[in-house]
Amino acid sequence: MEIQTIGVVGAGQMGNGIAHVMALAGYDVLMTDISQDALDAALATIDKNLERQVSRDKISQDKKDAAMARIKTTLTLTDLGPSDLIIEAATERETVKQAIFEDLLPHLKPHTILTSNTSSISITRLASRTDRPEKFMGFHFMNPVPVMQLVELIRGIATDQETYEACLAVVEKIGKTASSAEDFPAFIVNRILMPMINEAVYTLYEGVGNVKSIDEAMKLGANHPMGPLELADFIGLDTCLAIMNVLHDGLADTKYRPCPLLTKYVEAGWLGRKTQRGFYDYR
Ligand code: CAA
Repeated sequence: MEIQTIGVVGAGQMGNGIAHVMALAGYDVLMTDISQDALDAALATIDKNLERQVSRDKISQDKKDAAMARIKTTLTLTDLGPSDLIIEAATERETVKQAIFEDLLPHLKPHTILTSNTSSISITRLASRTDRPEKFMGFHFMNPVPVMQLVELIRGIATDQETYEACLAVVEKIGKTASSAEDFPAFIVNRILMPMINEAVYTLYEGVGNVKSIDEAMKLGANHPMGPLELADFIGLDTCLAIMNVLHDGLADTKYRPCPLLTKYVEAGWLGRKTQRGFYDYR
């Protein structure tokens, strides 16, 4: 099945990155959000990030202009009806995602594939509440989307091979690499990454090291591009905590217990870069 039009639900950090890479690869993109400000900010971010690629000679000005022209925005979710593939990248709350799919369903073409960029919610459960569980899967990008090479493709229990192959073809067309994961809590990347971040917070909590020494140890000692606490701030401490809770609840193992210090930061509203305060102070 030929995919030409991609609907992106949510124009935040992930949604605008997804729109960026899809438009650059030649797909027509329909992007929606609930606020015009969010859509305007997303277009400005995409423009800035494409411009950076032009200034570094990664793409031509013509390619940038063509990509921008392929992105249409709308405040009306159901305008995404003509899409061949929907990538939902809305708030990481199951009820929000469910409501989006429910509202979209009556407007979709029979062949439309539904996907979610969720970092940890069960694909099988989201799929089961739609009319097409066999055409539903996880399409999980890493942040920052234009830079990171990986897309995790997660099959729900009912996902069919045709859907998987259609999504794989999209990943290849945007020049990224797919890693195939089964639908268990937090899939592959976050199953491994979040316990490491959580352990870094425990290392801080127990006074084994301070923020600087922990991050430097992992940057210089393990060749990670960012230290784990800096990365936690980058991802968002609320997101890290939510994923630890999914692991803890879903796998019922105390090794996934969120560090109390992580919980305390989130309760304080210190969520990392997005609130200007996390393990680091960005003010
Ligand atoms: N958007 C677009 N491009 C960006 C960008 C952004 N937000 N940030 C950086 N870039 C680009 C730069 O333009 C630059 O491009 P070129 O190499 O083509 O010139 C490149 O990325 C490197 O940028 P910088 O030199 O400015 O900065 P850096 O070398 O410090 O790299 C980084 C920045 C790529 C973010 C790097 O620090 C990194 O890889 N960090 C780890 C990121 C990571 O682990 N992400 C996964 C998080 S987990 C996740 O996303 C899953 C989940 O569900 C939570």
